[in-house]
Amino acid sequence: MSEDIKKTISELHIYEKKLLKELESNPDVTPEQIAENTGMNIKSVMSAAGSLASKEIIEVDKKVQETYSLTDDGMEYAEHGLPERKILEVLADKKEIPMKDLASEAGIDKKETGIALGWLRQKNWAQIDKGVINITDIGKEFVDKAGVDEKVLDYLKLNADGVKLFTDDLRDGFKKLTGRKNILNIKKETSHSFKLLPKGEAILKVGFEIKQQATQLTHEHLKEGEWKSLEYRPYDINAEAPVIFAGKKHPLRIIIDEIREIFLNMGFSEDNGEFVESAFWNFDSLFQPQDHAAREMQDTFYLKNPLTCDLPDMDLVKLTAETHETGADTGSIGWQYDWSEDIARQSVLRTHTTGISTKHLFEHEPPIKMFSVGRVFRRETFDYKHLPEFHQVEGLVCDEGISYQNLLGTLKEFYKKLGFEVRFRPAYFPYTYLSTETEIYLEEKESWIELGGAGMFRPEVLKPLGINQPALAFGLGIERLAMIRYDVEDIRMLYKSDIKWLRELPISKGVQL
Ligand code: DAH
Repeated sequence: MSEDIKKTISELHIYEKKLLKELESNPDVTPEQIAENTGMNIKSVMSAAGSLASKEIIEVDKKVQETYSLTDDGMEYAEHGLPERKILEVLADKKEIPMKDLASEAGIDKKETGIALGWLRQKNWAQIDKGVINITDIGKEFVDKAGVDEKVLDYLKLNADGVKLFTDDLRDGFKKLTGRKNILNIKKETSHSFKLLPKGEAILKVGFEIKQQATQLTHEHLKEGEWKSLEYRPYDINAEAPVIFAGKKHPLRIIIDEIREIFLNMGFSEDNGEFVESAFWNFDSLFQPQDHAAREMQDTFYLKNPLTCDLPDMDLVKLTAETHETGADTGSIGWQYDWSEDIARQSVLRTHTTGISTKHLFEHEPPIKMFSVGRVFRRETFDYKHLPEFHQVEGLVCDEGISYQNLLGTLKEFYKKLGFEVRFRPAYFPYTYLSTETEIYLEEKESWIELGGAGMFRPEVLKPLGINQPALAFGLGIERLAMIRYDVEDIRMLYKSDIKWLRELPISKGVQL
């Protein structure tokens, strides 16, 4: 115990010590007196008291004192009588007054008549019968006698500085007046008092000196040699500190930036497509037949403005048409239908980032290593795992000798760098062969979830673009990765700007400041 006390004493701030000494010499000392005696300002006294209280050295007691006085209206009533009193005075003479003459007879404001009648009835001084007000027996009694509330009005008139406490005989009247608007002023004053707790008594028993202590070792202390003689206040490293929420990147942004860095480090260069794209690049260049299910309205946002997009180089368009219709010289028989230029011209919000790969192949010579991160759009209904817009990262590698093995290796490496272990499942896309889907195992769900598609572009895609080398490509979802990493059950959380969640995301989860 005494070791503890010594440690506590050594950690006391000089203000805390001063306060304790003051309390020792006068247990009833007020914060204001402490401020005056010690030269501390009242804020410092209160913060030292708060700190002592949190260590259970003293107890801080808070009292709120109310002082009552009359408002201007209240003073007017105290001097000239409450409106119901004015009516009673007239009734004392006339015994009854027709309602319509009330204001003029009693010399009260029209606005006041409602309130006055209410109180007349409440006090049982009068009753109203067929539009006429009559005095009651109780009313007669009060003609020459003040009501309890009127006594309080008188009392407050005499005590213009305000009254803190009413004697028992005035309490009922006071209650009545507080129920009326605009009669009483209530001023609230808060005062604090301090009481030593056993731990505080023990500290004073052990005793301490009040000496200026240094809280920081400064450059000057070192330079002037002062550090040798200065006494330093020990830190309580267990003291609670306020939590600070530093500004930081949004988790989705963090993952996107990490993905970009990984691909840049793997030697890929970055390309960017447009949100608005022609059906030609989004679908036709990927050998997706024009009646393909993915083009149907429920999947794709078709735009009214611009309604159409320009088609690229006509040789490429012609070759693409031929490939769709007959397979041209790709070794396939194509889809066997009449390809339409108009359908290819339709403008869409890109449904995936894969059109960037074909455009890039058309505009660049192999060897190519390209990636692109961006939003894609699909007509999905919102739910816990679907949004009508989300992000994909597209990747493309094209060169002599590129193989399906390279594709699997690249994907494995990429996910490993992001901290995920994946497996591959055979899949189908109209534009690739071989094709695969990457999946990740979710322990909590005991199931595999799909992360994205990939494959080797088919000759039907490459040939019209003028590419004779093999090309691997992949398009991977990003939101799912963020959901797994940040334990998000509902994808909408990523777009909700939930400030509490964002603040509390731990830095250990790759959150960067
Ligand atoms: N575009 C596909 C999707 O959105 C993913 C994809 C599959 C991209 C195969 C590719 C690929 O580049 O080769 O689901």
